[in-house]
Amino acid sequence: EQAEIGLIGLGVMGSNLALNIAEKGNRIAVFNRSPEATRKFFAEAGDLQKNIIPCETLEEFVAAIRPPRPIIIMIKAGDPVDQQMELLKPYLADNDIMIDAGNANFRDTMRRFDNLKDSGLTFIGMGVSGGEEGARHGPSIMVGGTEDSWKRVEKVLTSISAKFHDEPCVAWLGENGAGHFVKTIHNGIEYADMQMIAEIYGILRDGLKLSAPEIGQVFGKWNEGRLNSYLIEISEKVLKANDPISGKPMVDVIVDQAGQKGTGKWSVIEAQNMGVAATAIEAAVAGRILSSQKAEREAAEKILGLPQTTAMPTTDGVSFLDDLENALLAAKVAAYAQGFAVMAAASREYNWNLPMPTIAKIWREGCIIRSQFLDEITSAFTKDPDVANLIVTPAFAKLVNDTDASLRRVVSTAIMSGLSVPALSSALSYFDAYRRGRGTANLIQAQRDFFGAHGFDRVDGVDKHHGPWGSGLADFA
Ligand code: 6PG
Repeated sequence: EQAEIGLIGLGVMGSNLALNIAEKGNRIAVFNRSPEATRKFFAEAGDLQKNIIPCETLEEFVAAIRPPRPIIIMIKAGDPVDQQMELLKPYLADNDIMIDAGNANFRDTMRRFDNLKDSGLTFIGMGVSGGEEGARHGPSIMVGGTEDSWKRVEKVLTSISAKFHDEPCVAWLGENGAGHFVKTIHNGIEYADMQMIAEIYGILRDGLKLSAPEIGQVFGKWNEGRLNSYLIEISEKVLKANDPISGKPMVDVIVDQAGQKGTGKWSVIEAQNMGVAATAIEAAVAGRILSSQKAEREAAEKILGLPQTTAMPTTDGVSFLDDLENALLAAKVAAYAQGFAVMAAASREYNWNLPMPTIAKIWREGCIIRSQFLDEITSAFTKDPDVANLIVTPAFAKLVNDTDASLRRVVSTAIMSGLSVPALSSALSYFDAYRRGRGTANLIQAQRDFFGAHGFDRVDGVDKHHGPWGSGLADFA
């Protein structure tokens, strides 16, 4: 019996995805560049062997799949994907579907999609979130491609996806690059979420002088409330873990330099390309960059010393902890509002017609940013899918108004204590700017007109104008 689907690339993510597919009763053909990995994978597949067809040549692999053949490519993003596609193509027939399931840049996905136009072959760019565990037991899956190609894979992908109660966390989101774009923004939000949690951790560690397990305790409690989420849950777990070598808390022996593979940066670049302010995501990416400059920071600390500051308020520890919890919630709203605003702009720019409520829905389980909060976002967008910004929906306007005083106290306290909180403070400034009908860009417009004669609009609607700069100055002299 032929396989329902094929998969190339038996690395960590690919193997787990293949086992998940087999376990859900789908027959799958697998191929890996080095056949040893294929043999090892098959040997360890146990009961699932009955649904797996291990193949050692591409020819054999393609022949093992029922046409039109959906073939998942799960290898390192970038050039290797193009190379793999070229190797595969000669064996494929009309309507076969190559599916890139890696963290591709959506621009590559658009290019690959276009290159296959008129070839008879088609392409799906598919974002898969949830790490190793998600791939094995139920990831969140964001699909971009033609609707026909989606229909061919819908059943298999639905069977392997995470479920929020009974609802599968997989959806077709639009043509060509839609799936990978949404996955990129998922990661941008993931960066912001992680940075904000790390900033709160910094306040607890360096401001309130709590130990790692004590901070774990705090996060554990928060995980039972409105911050309930996978990232808070794992933060509790990592903070409570001990290093088997030194016996110290594990986090205390980890070097404070964050890695990154690019999706956060792409989110920021695309946001800026489209003129969307995604300040919390920007702050998170910049935070990782600064973190990586460890040697420079250490040298600077020797020269400048730590900031001269007032101490953390110790007045009422309990209510400050409540403030921290509310501050994190408020700041998260800004990050998600910005991420969704970027997707709304991209949807217009690339004619994807991205379904906002569906995106929120399929992020409720399986993916790294899964949380109860996303269920609230789902409701807000279901009621008003075209709203300009999440923060002006009734539910989130209320949430912002209920929590922003806490964010303000936390940010100002952190700043007075010399603790760096770029993502939290950018979230607060975003609210403060977004909710103020008259800002200060009138001065910027005047300056631009002064030195470049750019002109400006007037509040009274009278035609575009230039200032009387020369004579105006004279008037005050
Ligand atoms: C996921 C994750 C994952 C991603 C990293 C981001 O949704 O499962 O987003 O796909 O690769 O978490 O990677 P870096 O932090 O290394 O950039």
